Amino acid sequence: MSNFIIINKKIKSFKKKILVPGDKSLSIRFVLFSAIASGTSKAYNLLISDDVISAINAIKKLGVKVILNKRYCKIFGKGIDGFKYKKNIIIDARNSGTLARLILGLLVNTPYPIKIIGDKSLSRRDFKRIARPLSKFGAKFILNRNGSLPLKIFGSKNLLPIKYFEKKGSAQCKSSVIFAGMKTKGKTLIKAKKSRNHTELLAKYLKLPINIKNKKNFDLIKINKVKKINPLNYNIPADISSASFFIVLTALIKNSELIVENVNINPSRIGVITILKKMGVVIKFKKKKIYKGEKIANIYIKSPKILKPINCPTSLNAGAIDEFLVIFLLAAKAKGTSFFNDLSELNQKESPRLKWGSKILNSMGIKNITKKNSIKIFGNPNLNIKKRIVIKNYFKDHRVFMTSVIAALSFGGEWKIYDQDSIKSSFPSFFKILNKIKKKSA
Ligand code: S3P
Repeated sequence: MSNFIIINKKIKSFKKKILVPGDKSLSIRFVLFSAIASGTSKAYNLLISDDVISAINAIKKLGVKVILNKRYCKIFGKGIDGFKYKKNIIIDARNSGTLARLILGLLVNTPYPIKIIGDKSLSRRDFKRIARPLSKFGAKFILNRNGSLPLKIFGSKNLLPIKYFEKKGSAQCKSSVIFAGMKTKGKTLIKAKKSRNHTELLAKYLKLPINIKNKKNFDLIKINKVKKINPLNYNIPADISSASFFIVLTALIKNSELIVENVNINPSRIGVITILKKMGVVIKFKKKKIYKGEKIANIYIKSPKILKPINCPTSLNAGAIDEFLVIFLLAAKAKGTSFFNDLSELNQKESPRLKWGSKILNSMGIKNITKKNSIKIFGNPNLNIKKRIVIKNYFKDHRVFMTSVIAALSFGGEWKIYDQDSIKSSFPSFFKILNKIKKKSA
């Protein structure tokens, strides 16, 4: 397989129903919770992607047995303090920030130092944000010069509960501290800016000693030492972040309709839906239900005649944090100027995504004013690209790749997009589903 793709044809209008793979955040959390449960957990529809495989490999290194086949994943949990620690364990998180950051919370009492490494993209990301709160519990860290990977964690036998204020709206920081709190005698108190709450919902569903108070702009979380976790039996719903590439594609292609089935529509994840609705896209949730504390629905989308620009409320940022690159494509086609602010966290992702969003727009001929924290996009409803565009050297960020594909199919031109294997992190079946959408209906 050559490692680039050429796209030189726009997609035709479509009416389709699709299913996308399991949610990545939930899949990684399933793996980690199951590893410390007492007994055998089973998941159906676990996302089988590099990030989740890295999580499985990590718990295997800690002595947890896993059976993974096409139908299910079985994890033979060792109990809350049952990891088999050995000398010189190295955990390779590869591309996964969620794995590297969350698992550190479970390693705060390791008797031997554990090294965490990652790929080039993960090795440029910030780990001070995790080392700081976990050090307060009593763990110690040696970080790379810039506060990044590789790092070494030295656990403590005498963990102390902490008070922690999470100000970035990072679910990874919040979850890592929740995990450490689950291992620590006494009450850990967290005040967290709103972010995805899958860890809390799973902990609640498992009846762990967690207490959550939702305030307007933040959540108050109290967590006590966990004695025992019952095994899980989980049917993982579809990932709204993966679905978003096709939701946006539908919104960009006139006379198109799409249904995405069985998607996790947790309110802390649907910023993209709220933003699209504000821009004039018709979106409906159908067959809503609750599953193990998570909301699930079929999502119906119809492309609008005209896309409205948006002055995006910053309160929607955390709930759309992984979707901004594709949201910028909508702003590129909107009739007017859109503005997105308070987005410095975007540059902390698999690539500096605010910069890459701007670069993609520039190459498309869409004027934008991009600062450290914000982007202003001057939309052009008649955008029709005629030139050649090359996308490369973007730290193999899966979302940059997939966004570029959606742009190529929507706006035309001849695109050469490198590093197509980047999709393996989160969405290996991206092209299979895209081909289903492209195929003429029978
Ligand atoms: C995630 C949290 C978010 C998100 C990432 C997955 C999670 O990261 O961008 O893709 O599963 O907790 P931050 O916590 O850095 O915002």
